[in-house]
Amino acid sequence: MINLFQHLRNESVEAPLIQLLESVINASKEIAFRVRQGALAGVLGSTQDQNIQGETQKNLDVISNQLLKDLLLACPQVRALASEEEDTVVAGNANGEFIIAFDPLDGSSNIDINGQIGTIFSIYRAQENIAANDEAQFRQKGEQQVCAGYILYGPSTLLVITTGKGTHAFTLDATQGTFLLTANNINIPADTKEFAINMSNQRFWSDNMRRYLNDLVLGESGPRGKNFNMRWNAAMVGDVHRIISRGGIFLYPSDNRNPKQPAKLRLLYEANPMALLLENAGGKAWNENQRILEIEPRELHERVAVILGSANEVQICLKYITAEH
Ligand code: AHG
Ligand code: MN
Ligand code: MN
Repeated sequence: MINLFQHLRNESVEAPLIQLLESVINASKEIAFRVRQGALAGVLGSTQDQNIQGETQKNLDVISNQLLKDLLLACPQVRALASEEEDTVVAGNANGEFIIAFDPLDGSSNIDINGQIGTIFSIYRAQENIAANDEAQFRQKGEQQVCAGYILYGPSTLLVITTGKGTHAFTLDATQGTFLLTANNINIPADTKEFAINMSNQRFWSDNMRRYLNDLVLGESGPRGKNFNMRWNAAMVGDVHRIISRGGIFLYPSDNRNPKQPAKLRLLYEANPMALLLENAGGKAWNENQRILEIEPRELHERVAVILGSANEVQICLKYITAEH
């Protein structure tokens, strides 16, 4: 079986990027080990602190962030990093070629229930003429990502990655400590009968979004003429992985719960990397009116509505959302 680094060399990925990915992989293996040990490693439970977004940090959020940060700052290729758990940009080597944004631990509410969790990352070229610690380093559209991926800590540990040439999955062989290629050039089916959304928020959605969901739920007897099934992992990484594996649509739409927070998921380290992985596997990823990868980022922790998955279903959903009544 081909291992990750042979595969990256076969794809002619440049050596400095491979070196940076080695740091991400080494950190993720450390996280995977602690996740597997669970309560025995003392990693469960919450801290007393909140991150800049006002969310209570779990111990594993902090531990994962620290592991990634330590290994990435030791990597000469990293000019700057941005993390869900860091208020501002953290400067690395002033001559580093790349910048990296990450969600160290996605799906925090699953930590204490032994559910799916993961790490999501997004890599860009560093911009010359901009200081390493300047947020402006990260004002690049998602389509400029040179690499994106996630590591899913599930029953097995999986890496799903793209460097622009297709989306591929690797499974961690824990006996060797290497990621082996287990799904090459993933292709997401264009049609689906499965959706993922947190239905408890429906009173906060737009009328059009409610109409779309309502028609899915009506199944065979409604205008869609087919029955849909629902799945919700409460970890984007788990929901996206299901879609990568067998298709589906995932939605975290904008809602009017909190005017300061029109949507939940973060553009830089959740929406953008997933959008690139999805598009490179034949899927689609939009907010409510444009491709996620075309959005000009304004702030490090900015939030964005997300509609992603099987191409035809995303298209149908967008039609509902933009319809005039
Ligand atoms: P995080 O744990 O990194 O803060 O992200 C959680 C996100 C995402 O993974 C998931 O899809 C969503 O929040 C779950 O939201 P609900 O609490 O509405 O289920
Ligand atoms: Mn997250
Ligand atoms: Mn997180």
